[in-house]
Amino acid sequence: MYDIFISYRRDGSFEMARLLYDHLRMRGLNVFFDLQELRSGKFNVKLYSAIDESSNFLLVLPQGGLDRCVNEDDWLRMEIEYAIEKNKNIVPLMMNGFDWPKDLPDSLKNLPLYNAVSMSREYLDASIERVLSMCVNLRLRGGMRVKEEDERIQNDYFSFDDEKERRRLQIQEELTRAIEVAEYEKIEREYDELIVLDLSFVTADSIMAKLENCQKVAKLIGIESDEKSVEYANERYGEQGKRVFYCMDMESEGFEAALDKVMSENGVKEFNVINLSWVLMNLRSPFKLLKILRKKLSKNGAVFVKDIDDAYNIAYPDENGYFERAVEICNRDELSGYRRSGRQVYTLLYRAGFKKTQLNRLCITTAEMDSDQRSNLFETYFSFVREDLRVLAEKYPDDKRVAADLEWYENVYDDMEELFQDDAFYFSFGVMLFTAKK
Ligand SMILES: C[S@@+](CC[C@H](N)C(=O)[O-])C[C@H]1O[C@@H](n2cnc3c(N)ncnc32)[C@H](O)[C@@H]1O
Repeated sequence: MYDIFISYRRDGSFEMARLLYDHLRMRGLNVFFDLQELRSGKFNVKLYSAIDESSNFLLVLPQGGLDRCVNEDDWLRMEIEYAIEKNKNIVPLMMNGFDWPKDLPDSLKNLPLYNAVSMSREYLDASIERVLSMCVNLRLRGGMRVKEEDERIQNDYFSFDDEKERRRLQIQEELTRAIEVAEYEKIEREYDELIVLDLSFVTADSIMAKLENCQKVAKLIGIESDEKSVEYANERYGEQGKRVFYCMDMESEGFEAALDKVMSENGVKEFNVINLSWVLMNLRSPFKLLKILRKKLSKNGAVFVKDIDDAYNIAYPDENGYFERAVEICNRDELSGYRRSGRQVYTLLYRAGFKKTQLNRLCITTAEMDSDQRSNLFETYFSFVREDLRVLAEKYPDDKRVAADLEWYENVYDDMEELFQDDAFYFSFGVMLFTAKK
């Protein structure tokens, strides 16, 4: 989701748009500003979804900025028309020398009636304050954007080429494998054969490890949005009619139809096991997905949900507050998914119509872990935050909070790692494992 979409003309208002963008980013706002690349060549329909996702539409108008809007295929015109159609909060920003043209096309004729702001380079800060006061849903506190506790964003950060992330996922899988395998064994006893759907399987290594000893898996269908991962899974584990992996976006409009097609191609009427391992936390609308999935489940079918809730993280002793701060940073990390997802799972499942929801296991802890297991757990939880901060510091070079977080993290990382190795140090990691029935 974006707080603000910046609409501008490449020639004439780029510089002002860029200044505005930098300033708004410094306040932690999520701003869509497409720099150059999307703006060359044919109109890019991605811009429509960015407008859909933004509450505010800031229209930066240089001298003569609307003159080309007489052409139906003018980019700026198309953006404005779409923002009007979608009822966005439109704020025209008038630069020096801009005047409303006399002959605006019908679709834009109400534009001059919107409350506008005159942008002054000389008093830029004051102009921006004024712009902010006219925006809606910004959630500013002390001038900074607050990350909403209950804010979910779609998080398709994963890429097959990210070896570190793959290793992290593998460690996580190993940490929970025994418990999950026990659940699969239970379910295996209930059915003659298992028809399994695994959502967001990454490389499929994880689901394959879990099902390794299941004798009754008749079919496994996997869905994942990362193309390379799908290719890898099909090459490594694919078997016509038995194990097939598809590239799909589970949050797209056409997802249900696409899933139906895949099911019919594979002669599957319904699944009796659906696996959602670290998936809901990365979705914007988990409820929508769960509703769809429930329809595809057999009468007595089961859904497995493995998710996270950082409220269950405990680090003791944490005399310097390192772990508390690291967890807090992780919660704000836009690449880390929604870290309070676990607490919502029961309610989400209930509302989506699932029954008999059980929380099988609450967490992973360092109690009784040997040194290797401790370092694996440390790596899986704490190393990615550092990686993410490095990525974010590059993405938002002007974001002072990210820079401060990164500096702090780099400074304390080795000490944290050492503390984690102390046998008397206790850490619990809020992994939650649920099962539910149709
Ligand atoms: C944390 S990983 C899942 C881990 C995996 N299920 C396991 O147990 O090891 C999240 C995965 O979700 C995928 N993903 C994110 N958004 C998606 C979407 N809308 N549709 C399909 N896959 C998505 C990402 O590509 C990534 O591979």
